[in-house]
Amino acid sequence: AMMGKGNYNHFMQKEIFEQPAVIGDTLHAFINPATRTIKLPEMPFSFDDVSRLTIVACGTSFYAGMVAKHWIERYAGLGVDVDIASEFRYRRPPLPKGGVALFISQSGETLDTLAALRYAKSKGQKIVSIVNVAESTIARESDAVLLTYAGPEIGVASTKAFTTQLTVLACLAVTIGRDNGTLSKDEEAAIVNALTELPKHAAEVLHHDDAIRELAINIADARDVLYIGRGLGYPIAMEGALKLKEISYIHAEGYAAGEMKHGPIALIDQSVPIIVIAPSDELFEKTASNMQEAAARGGRVIFLSDAQGLAKLGDIASATVELPKVADFVAPILYTIPVQMLAYHVAVHKGTDVDQPRNLAKSVTVE
Ligand code: AGP
Repeated sequence: AMMGKGNYNHFMQKEIFEQPAVIGDTLHAFINPATRTIKLPEMPFSFDDVSRLTIVACGTSFYAGMVAKHWIERYAGLGVDVDIASEFRYRRPPLPKGGVALFISQSGETLDTLAALRYAKSKGQKIVSIVNVAESTIARESDAVLLTYAGPEIGVASTKAFTTQLTVLACLAVTIGRDNGTLSKDEEAAIVNALTELPKHAAEVLHHDDAIRELAINIADARDVLYIGRGLGYPIAMEGALKLKEISYIHAEGYAAGEMKHGPIALIDQSVPIIVIAPSDELFEKTASNMQEAAARGGRVIFLSDAQGLAKLGDIASATVELPKVADFVAPILYTIPVQMLAYHVAVHKGTDVDQPRNLAKSVTVE
């Protein structure tokens, strides 16, 4: 059936605004609200027997894998290798005996990801996939499938698929950590609470739409834009940069904030906007000092943080976006939304074809 845009101007805009609902739908599938515990579908193996996990994906789905690596290593004590499918498949890396490989794909049809899956299978790995299309090829070839309940995603730039992938991956990380004893019942309950509040917090972030549209006007004529973050904010910086590149055609780079001084800081002058993703978490002071270094070189800093972070350093920035204060664990899901909105409004301001950007296909089924 033809899907409509409803009251929205673009599918991407509609899909950004659907996020509170589809994150909620995805949580609903995996969380028991009464017991505040997570329950994933049965899998034909146990993560307890796994010594290392391999995650493979492309593009935005790869950035979801980067967030998952952080979560699974930190909260479940399981080492994770995460790789881009087109690199993984031709490198043909050795894989652990009895290992598990996880493939993340909105469409479930991305050729490189599928080829990587088939390689992992040929090396005896159990295959888990996270897809948005239940009948897709990747789902059919997997031993276990975790679905995102994003609904059809039409815009070429992935938005709600990413935040629902993160939602599923959060549930997976907690499950692995609980089952292997790394996470206590109380820690699980605290994360479940934070996840349960996400739809409400995501809706609050969407209220900044007008302010972000204003901000976008100042970015639309930039030649380069830098996005920086640390820890869980680093993959979100990468994702923000990819969104901007895809739909606004402005060159953008996502960087680990601590890596700036090893090269990219040379790019900074008054013409370069720097988007700083810095919730007031344990790495805040570190990211903040990188932000100060950028500002001292004349960079136009756009600072995404919560009230606590903004109170400390908001005056250094040329613009700020205040996000709700949330548990560190869920912050990457929330901080994705303003970077999507920013890319969207820059693209609209420039007049590009937001839903069908040049040279790109929604699902990349060729090499
Ligand atoms: C994201 O905005 C992109 N259009 C692209 O990077 C996409 O995420 C990638 O092609 C992977 O697609 P998949 O999730 O359907 O496998």
